Amino acid sequence: MKESFSLSSLELDAALRAITARDLEDLRAWKNAHRSGFFYQAIITSEQQVEWFQGYRERAHDWMFVVNHAGQAIGCMGLRLLDQHADIYNVILGRSESGGKGLMSQAIRLLCSFIAAEYTRDIGAQVLRSNPARAWYQKNAFRETQSFDTYVEVELDWSRFRPCLFQKV
Ligand SMILES: CC(C)(COP(=O)(O)OP(=O)(O)OC[C@H]1O[C@@H](n2cnc3c(N)ncnc32)[C@H](O)[C@@H]1OP(=O)(O)O)[C@@H](O)C(=O)NCCC(=O)NCCS
Repeated sequence: MKESFSLSSLELDAALRAITARDLEDLRAWKNAHRSGFFYQAIITSEQQVEWFQGYRERAHDWMFVVNHAGQAIGCMGLRLLDQHADIYNVILGRSESGGKGLMSQAIRLLCSFIAAEYTRDIGAQVLRSNPARAWYQKNAFRETQSFDTYVEVELDWSRFRPCLFQKV
């Protein structure tokens, strides 16, 4: 069984907490609201979300986090290990009121710092070509490495990325 844990940094106002069953309805609402930005564009039902969670709990190197700010869940982001490569997925600002303040940028910096410390420095993501988040990744020290019909691959550019010190509890 997966144990939940949290990541925080004195340098940051955003923290990460590995999800529990109580987060599923938030995750579902956020994903459905932003489904046009993702590969899977159908509406996710409560039952499908629970089914996903059952599979998730069995996968050792797959972590979905809630982004916390001032005691509130504002969004989510996930990581999964594919061979020796870390894939970041499901990056969503759930509460639009918390957007544009750099909180999601802080959260992805924390996530990448954790991945580098725990797993690998080879960190990337796949982003739909039409997704405005492409510019956001660029601002957050990712660069586009490959381009496909419908999506691009981005990877963390270590010449621009500065990891933060963090605590895992
Ligand atoms: C991508 C996404 C997570 C970014 O969320 P966000 O709230 O805009 O991200 P940030 O909090 O990092 O905000 C960045 C903006 O805040 C500004 N900002 C303000 N204060 C800041 C600070 N202290 N540090 C960094 N940026 C700051 C930046 O200038 C930037 O503005 P701009 O990009 O509009 O010019 C969000 O747009 C989203 O959920 N999109 C839909 C889902 C999606 O498509 N996800 C990606 C799938 S691959």
